[in-house]
Amino acid sequence: MFHRITATEDLGAISAGSQPKRFVKGDDCRKYVAKWPYDAAGASHGGICSKELFNELCASILAERVGVPVPEFALLTVPEGLVASIAGLCFGSLYMDNYEALPDGSHIASAIEEYDGATVYLLFAFDELLRNPDRKPGDILTMARGGRPRRFLAIDHGNAFTGSHWDSAHLLRSSQGNATDDSRWVFRGLNDKSLAAVAADRIVHAAADVREAVNEAAAASGLADVDRASAHAFLEIRRDAMVSLTLAAVAKAAETI
Ligand SMILES: Nc1ncnc2c1ncn2[C@@H]1O[C@H](COP(=O)(O)OP(=O)(O)O)[C@@H](O)[C@H]1O
Ligand SMILES: [Mg+2]
Repeated sequence: MFHRITATEDLGAISAGSQPKRFVKGDDCRKYVAKWPYDAAGASHGGICSKELFNELCASILAERVGVPVPEFALLTVPEGLVASIAGLCFGSLYMDNYEALPDGSHIASAIEEYDGATVYLLFAFDELLRNPDRKPGDILTMARGGRPRRFLAIDHGNAFTGSHWDSAHLLRSSQGNATDDSRWVFRGLNDKSLAAVAADRIVHAAADVREAVNEAAAASGLADVDRASAHAFLEIRRDAMVSLTLAAVAKAAETI
């Protein structure tokens, strides 16, 4: 379950990443990265139903459930007038000031001994569950001066469920097949089939019931019933195919370095 937070202060724009976002202070006095839903034409829809908001919320709820580390997150309400021209609901990711994104060009596989392999493969399999093609180095935060194994947090699930602008028919047509895409290249070179199988198996069990996660995220983001039902079916189909999807993905990752 996530918190519902109201933003009380605009703390400025963030330049990192591909989409406009801002730092805001929440009514819990903590600092959040606020991501606004954008539509296919790039227009902001503060407060309006958004697949991207659903994707972020549902992915983070499921991540916590299966054990993929993510920053604390919230459904953020930005009141009218706080930030020029934008108001309404957005995804809030608690700002992690002692973490930094992996540098461009990083491959986890080339430094796998620095990480807890089981957690790396859990994230790899989790992206297959969600068919999330977007796992760039900038979508993994690591602790700047942490010990070993290197702790990391997964961020940016706006492109889960095949992308940020899915419709219910497309989602059902896309319930088979790998999430692999060039932007998942942070995982290139991963080749441990047994760790991949263990991770997939863990997700099968931890995501035995996905209905509650889908319902919570759908209600918060105002998703239509037909989309909610498709998202639910999509996850169940992919969860049931988890082991074969993950093994196919690791075979592909092993070839692409
Ligand atoms: N919770 C957070 N804590 C610290 N930095 C963050 C957080 N969320 C995002 N960032 C920073 O913002 C960048 C872009 O965020 P991301 O969610 O990947 O947005 P985009 O959809 O634009 O790629 C990240 O690479 C990271 O540098
Ligand atoms: Mg990103």
